Amino acid sequence: MGSTLILTDRTIITAQQPQPPLPAALGTSYHRLADLAQTQIWVAPECGMPQLLYWGDPLPADCDLAVLEQALCPALPHGALDVSEPVSWLPEPGCGFTDAPGLALRRGARHLYTRFRLEAAQQTAQGWTFRMRDPDAALALLLHIELPPGRGVLSAHCRLSNEGEDALSVDALASLALPVPSRLRERLSFTGRWAAEFQAVREPVGRAGWMQESRVGRTSHHAYPGIVLMERGTHATQGEAWSLQLAWSGNHRLLVQALRTGGLQVQAAGLLLPGEVTLQPGASCTSPTVHLCRSPAGLRLLSLRWQRFVRARVLPPTSGPRRVQFNSWEAAYFDHDCQRMQALARRVAVLGVERFVLDDGWFTDRRDDRRGLGNWEPCPERYPQGLAPLAACCEALGMQFGLWVEPEGVSPDSALHRDHPDWILGVPGLQQPLGRNQYVLNLGLQAARTHLFQALSALLRSAPIHFLKWDMNRDMTHAAGPDGQAAVRQHVLGLYRLLDDLRQAFPSLEIETCASGGARADLGILQRTSRIWVSDCNDPLERQRMHRALLTFLPAEAMGVHVGAARSHTTGRHADIALRTLTALLGHPGIEADPLTFSEDEARHLRQAIAFHKAERAWLAQADVTAVDHDAPAVLATSAIAADGQRALVTVVAADRTADAVPAPLRVPGLVAQAHYKVRLHPLWPADPRQGKRAAGPFLADEGITLAGRTLHLAGVALPILQPGSGVVLVLDRLP
Ligand code: GLA
Repeated sequence: MGSTLILTDRTIITAQQPQPPLPAALGTSYHRLADLAQTQIWVAPECGMPQLLYWGDPLPADCDLAVLEQALCPALPHGALDVSEPVSWLPEPGCGFTDAPGLALRRGARHLYTRFRLEAAQQTAQGWTFRMRDPDAALALLLHIELPPGRGVLSAHCRLSNEGEDALSVDALASLALPVPSRLRERLSFTGRWAAEFQAVREPVGRAGWMQESRVGRTSHHAYPGIVLMERGTHATQGEAWSLQLAWSGNHRLLVQALRTGGLQVQAAGLLLPGEVTLQPGASCTSPTVHLCRSPAGLRLLSLRWQRFVRARVLPPTSGPRRVQFNSWEAAYFDHDCQRMQALARRVAVLGVERFVLDDGWFTDRRDDRRGLGNWEPCPERYPQGLAPLAACCEALGMQFGLWVEPEGVSPDSALHRDHPDWILGVPGLQQPLGRNQYVLNLGLQAARTHLFQALSALLRSAPIHFLKWDMNRDMTHAAGPDGQAAVRQHVLGLYRLLDDLRQAFPSLEIETCASGGARADLGILQRTSRIWVSDCNDPLERQRMHRALLTFLPAEAMGVHVGAARSHTTGRHADIALRTLTALLGHPGIEADPLTFSEDEARHLRQAIAFHKAERAWLAQADVTAVDHDAPAVLATSAIAADGQRALVTVVAADRTADAVPAPLRVPGLVAQAHYKVRLHPLWPADPRQGKRAAGPFLADEGITLAGRTLHLAGVALPILQPGSGVVLVLDRLP
């Protein structure tokens, strides 16, 4: 198998990995996935599912895998079964597994104790497909895993088929389970809530284990479907870390379980509601894909691998550079018409905005969030000639036009709901609570999808609309179809189909994923949407924390981050314009405020900051952007280092007062070790101007200083004294 891989965090090397002949013990086969940085070995016993035997740095080429398997085979403890209980791809109670199983299947009331056997292991271009069968249970199972070249991330899924003569109830089907070495005893995961998404939680993995679920029909604010398991004390550049992300935008479950007999298992699954999947004879269902990534050397390398993978293999390409946006929500909420929006457009165009996005409130009956969802036609009073005049005004000002939609949402008080009450997700005859005064359309229904496709296509043809902010504002409850069967999974698959159909019909359309802020950001939706509305909170200090967490799994250029009003609408906190622009600098920036309220100074600063971002964005879109550790918890630093190592920007923010009068030097990993960099402070973001040179430190206030990349990593550079809520931008240029 040819392989390309990331050898260090800065070098991408393509190489042909020699494949030693695979030894095979009686009835057992070994299956290797490898690149220069890692080896994964799956052992497929004659009876039972393949199990992960090894994942780590490359093993010696002459390693005898049968001997390795013996060496790692655990002893049988007293008080347990007389067989070992390996964590297979999908652990099976039928093989004697007594911890959380990877699948739960029934025919009527009969629970199936499956014992899958390997029929064939096929090597594919980039991995392995294991064809499993259980003749007694009349089931076939296909397990697929691959390691595409170049990014160091593995992808796996499974597909279950009913070969029996009666219906099969699929109560649970994980994408994959892995045995996790006991040394990886610390967990990093992300929780949150509306306007406070992506809160990193770092905790020891105890005997009680850990489980995280979303049951709200979307990825959720509270349970990001990704996890890192790592050695205790792992930091940016040290410690082994295993990580997985589920590419799924509906209900899901991540499980870390301390096994009865020792060790850990981690499982990732699309969560199924009772009765949600029933396979008729001959039918199949496929699990969501789970992506796996490992770093032998800290969280920075892990993030870089994820970011490069997502950039290269997940996100759809954008047409040209990501345009600086204006979004009308916090500028006008529901209070707008064509004239007001044209006035805002004229104002933001001179600030350097390149795309004007009209948020909620533009369609019939939508004067507040209690009505109108589903009427996807411009409001005849406020937009009497439709959206074309506003779009034309934007284009005349040199900006693209974009639009907010929430196609899955429907207000009870709307023509759509009156005409098709049976199109909503809900249990017939049962009252369900409203969420933001609305229901959710059942996109599992072809008729509902066709209706939305037609309505959105008509809209996209009515004016030059290049961008959709695709929102989804309701947690699902009672999420059933007309027959009462749970329908979240079908809804999500229907959503994916609708997005795919629209993107095929309108190939240059760019779509942003939004769900009351960041409640639907995952690698499933991001295959179809190129931007994440991270949060409805535009308070830069809150955003600093969210972005640094999100960068663990996703690249910076996909993060929608807007300069809001001086007083945050969600936290009430004040922030200088400099902190607001600094926070937007490394992501996909925009404005989320009434530009007519900016002072002259603010507008001048904003114009200059936007111009600076535009000058830097070509390399930023490919850059390695990660949180930089600092001793003081109040100092939040983030570095963006160009792929070729020629230039870097480091934003440094004081979220609070530091305990020490002078913050410790900032050490910046990831630069080209032997190269020399000129380090300067960018004048647009000066350290406390009132204190001048004394607070900035001698070198930053003057011409800057030259240091080797390795020195910057090992010794660092002194920081200015920063007031709470202020920040600076360090500019690093590699010297010839
Ligand atoms: C959601 C989004 C906001 C905004 C409003 C409009 O809350 O997260 O950004 O678009 O809907 O109703």
